[in-house]
Amino acid sequence: MSRRLIYAANWKMHHGPVAARAFAERFGATVEPREERELWFFPPAVSIAATAEALGARSDTSVGAQNVYWEQKGAFTGESSVPLVAEAGALGALVGHSERRHIFGETDADTARKVTALLAGGLVPMLCVGETLAEREAGDTEQVVMRQLRAALDGRTPAELDRTLIAYEPVWAIGTGRNATPSDAAMVHRSIRAELARLGARGRAPVLYGGSVNARNILALLAEAELDGVLVGGASLDPDGWAELVGLGG
Ligand code: 13P
Repeated sequence: MSRRLIYAANWKMHHGPVAARAFAERFGATVEPREERELWFFPPAVSIAATAEALGARSDTSVGAQNVYWEQKGAFTGESSVPLVAEAGALGALVGHSERRHIFGETDADTARKVTALLAGGLVPMLCVGETLAEREAGDTEQVVMRQLRAALDGRTPAELDRTLIAYEPVWAIGTGRNATPSDAAMVHRSIRAELARLGARGRAPVLYGGSVNARNILALLAEAELDGVLVGGASLDPDGWAELVGLGG
């Protein structure tokens, strides 16, 4: 039996409401739902509603936020809470993306609070973990990724762990055109899964790979049974390119 693959598009700071709607309409008209495929779109916050509306009620597709703040409401200028993004149509959110950690200085503790807020609000956290080049070269990949995982997920109930998606995104592979080799990625995925089991996950947690995924390397990556899908930045920005990519690997 083939496994269910998850294809997630992180548009980062691209596609305002007009472009997002046009993308979603075109994508919806050209890509048929498939039983063994799950699609996620992470548009900028201002485009969540337009994307969700234009995709409509497709059972295979979910829209998520790229970030949330952990408080419910209040004087937090510039932030979006879980209830706010949920009202706009988000069913989940990225947490701990490397750009949040390394450009905006988010800590492991911030990431944990965001996971808590998402789980409490009934949304799916897609927790991103990954080492920098210096950490990899120092042989610290496992240690860094396990620290990030434990900081965000220690103490969760098995049901909460089973609702959480993980994306392994080595920082040095993001936007660089240099992807992890399938076997290197698979090795880290195996460790992530083992750690999730130790933390109490009952099911086989889906672990996605992200970092310079494109139409040329996706088949080799998804040939690794440890990879349950991909989280894609640059190669998700064009509707036809993204339609082609989600057609590969299933
Ligand atoms: P790229 O696919 O552009 O390398 O970005 C990966 C990423 O950060 C997805 O969250």
